[in-house]
Amino acid sequence: MAKAKAFSQPVYVTSPLLPDLDDMNKMLSSIWRSGQLTNNGSMAVRLEKELADFLGANNLSLFSNGTVALQLACRLLRLSGEVITTPFTFAATCHALSWSNLTPVFCDIEEDTFNINPKEIEKLITANTTAIMPVHVFGNPCRVEEIHGIAKKHGLRVIYDAAHAFGVEAGGKPIGCFGDISMFSLHATKLYHTIEGGALTFNDPYLKQRADSLRNFGILNEELIIEPGTNAKLNEVQAAVGILLLAQVDKEIEGRKAITGIYRSLLKDVPGIRFFEEAEGVKYNYPYFVIEVNENEFGISRDMLYERLKEHNVFARKYFYPLCSRFPCYKSLPSAAPGRLPVAEKIVERVMSLPLHGRLPQEYAERICAIIKGV
Ligand SMILES: Cc1ncc(COP(=O)(O)O)c(C=O)c1O
Repeated sequence: MAKAKAFSQPVYVTSPLLPDLDDMNKMLSSIWRSGQLTNNGSMAVRLEKELADFLGANNLSLFSNGTVALQLACRLLRLSGEVITTPFTFAATCHALSWSNLTPVFCDIEEDTFNINPKEIEKLITANTTAIMPVHVFGNPCRVEEIHGIAKKHGLRVIYDAAHAFGVEAGGKPIGCFGDISMFSLHATKLYHTIEGGALTFNDPYLKQRADSLRNFGILNEELIIEPGTNAKLNEVQAAVGILLLAQVDKEIEGRKAITGIYRSLLKDVPGIRFFEEAEGVKYNYPYFVIEVNENEFGISRDMLYERLKEHNVFARKYFYPLCSRFPCYKSLPSAAPGRLPVAEKIVERVMSLPLHGRLPQEYAERICAIIKGV
């Protein structure tokens, strides 16, 4: 096979969606005219409404980032003690628990979805457990019905980290309607974003009311501060970016779907490379294209393939390596003990995200596949 050529410019795992600059200037003029830069101005109010419609949420609040939104979600539900979560996630999931004085209890994941394995959850419930924090990893919906059943049986709360699941639907329902609260990250690396930002969705309108006051120092009105809140507001400039990008998000998802189709068709017969098949009844958003490399069958390890891609100017990412349970701050927890998380320990050594965004030229995806086949 002819050796695939290296790219002359770096190809990164993603590239942020940007609003049209003229449109952004018009939005900025409007903000300048209003004289209001933050504190729940008209842009933030408008985006909150438009996002709630887009995500099919009964109640939605915006925040300055997804991590602080997760922390506030824990506070809103007055959680204490232990929260069962996955080790195969971004650091923010566990850190949000830790910052809320909660102990993360790591639960193993499923081989086929990389999500928390509901069959393992019940074994970890103790008298101190107050909640489950599953993550819809790479936008794949968790087994929401099983998780709901466990939570109901044991009187636990459920906060979904839906950072990757913007626009996903499962069983005909928007992903944010499951559990007590869902968190969407609106960070620039996500398919839809507000540069930095986060959103919580709730079924209970009272939770939204409290969330809106918690993100603004706990202020209820000029003379009444009801609880110790923080500053987690989304400013007007970022909200304007969000408004403009909302009009582009469907096209972005379409573009990602097309690139995903190319990766799938060109890599499907490569021995030792596995990727997700789409499940029935799920509307996907294509946030990442993740491959699992089986060294014995493929011939080289994930780490070697990652290096080879780099030599070709392709910058894949080993999401989510290392496991959170391997971080120095969590590794001495009982649930992080060696041998407790066999599936997660195996998967984390094998997976890698290839470059994917809606504007990636199709020819790039073809060349990346040729490089993978060539090694
Ligand atoms: C799974 C997961 N949870 C939480 C976060 C935190 O979101 P943010 O970066 O908006 O704080 C991220 C991402 O960045 C994430 O990938």
